[in-house]
Amino acid sequence: MQIPHIPVMLNEVKDIFKSVKDGYLIDCTMGYAGHTYALLDEKDSLCAIGCDRDEEAVKFSKNRLEKFKDRVVIEHEKFSDIVVKYEHLPIRGILADIGVSSLQLDSNDRGFGFDSSNLDMRMDITQSLSAYDIVNCYSKNELERILRDYGELKEYKKIARQICDKREKNPIKDAKSLADLIGRRGHFSGRSVSPATLAFQAIRIEVNKELQELEELLKSIERSKITDCIVCIISFHSLEDRIVKQTFKSWSKSCICPPENFRCECGNDHSLGEIITKKALEPTEIEIKANPRSRSSKLRAFYIKKDVER
Ligand SMILES: C[S@@+](CC[C@H](N)C(=O)[O-])C[C@H]1O[C@@H](n2cnc3c(N)ncnc32)[C@H](O)[C@@H]1O
Repeated sequence: MQIPHIPVMLNEVKDIFKSVKDGYLIDCTMGYAGHTYALLDEKDSLCAIGCDRDEEAVKFSKNRLEKFKDRVVIEHEKFSDIVVKYEHLPIRGILADIGVSSLQLDSNDRGFGFDSSNLDMRMDITQSLSAYDIVNCYSKNELERILRDYGELKEYKKIARQICDKREKNPIKDAKSLADLIGRRGHFSGRSVSPATLAFQAIRIEVNKELQELEELLKSIERSKITDCIVCIISFHSLEDRIVKQTFKSWSKSCICPPENFRCECGNDHSLGEIITKKALEPTEIEIKANPRSRSSKLRAFYIKKDVER
């Protein structure tokens, strides 16, 4: 079986979950099962529940994990909906490796890559909103918002105008024309990435509502009954990493009194647990060399304690 995606920071993920021997792991982004395969192979008493919003990934990982038989359940589902479904089980690990898979990036018809003949970018092809709708139907103001907020592009106004001028003549139908219009080369906003890379990432985040999904996932974990569990999130975008960092920080706070209080009145017993990674882990030089797509990844982990009360 040819595996179309290399799991990012696999050694670090194994290390984070080393104390988990049994119970269930929820893999929120099953993809091609790289992480889950390695964990199930290593731990005979561990079971996994996985989901992915991409049907192609679900089909592939079901097939790949067949040898683990009834230790695995995989659903075509958004990760914001998965935790609440399984919180009654002894969940000892939750993993989310957020972003796009190599297969999605490299498939000509999915519209994620610059040379794609489509303008799509939907992770779940049953959803209606696609990159085509955003590029051709969103107002100039909305385009500016996405390019500024999600792409962090300094020249967001100029790029939004270029898109609007171009689509006035003819709809922009494929990723290739969009990448050519925005510019595929060079440094941009002081970084060694092309404006097209940042713009594509911004449009993709909007199509798949990626930041909202992450926020909802974290909220669902916070509100769940889950205890004695390691939560590990790998992200590829600074905005996502910020959400994870701030959420873990708030989960670790014991005192929730307003800052203006002189004395603690809340009972000082509100922490969900503790942050495992004081600083985000990043891939090693060796990993980046072997798999350049891992270069922007950041891993953060949190332990939800045993006796937590919500
Ligand atoms: C980077 S890949 C995961 C790769 C996987 N860890 C592996 O080793 O093969 C990310 C996957 O997450 C899925 N995904 C992204 N956002 C999702 C969401 N909100 N709900 C469910 N799946 C999502 C994508 O479709 C993609 O297949």
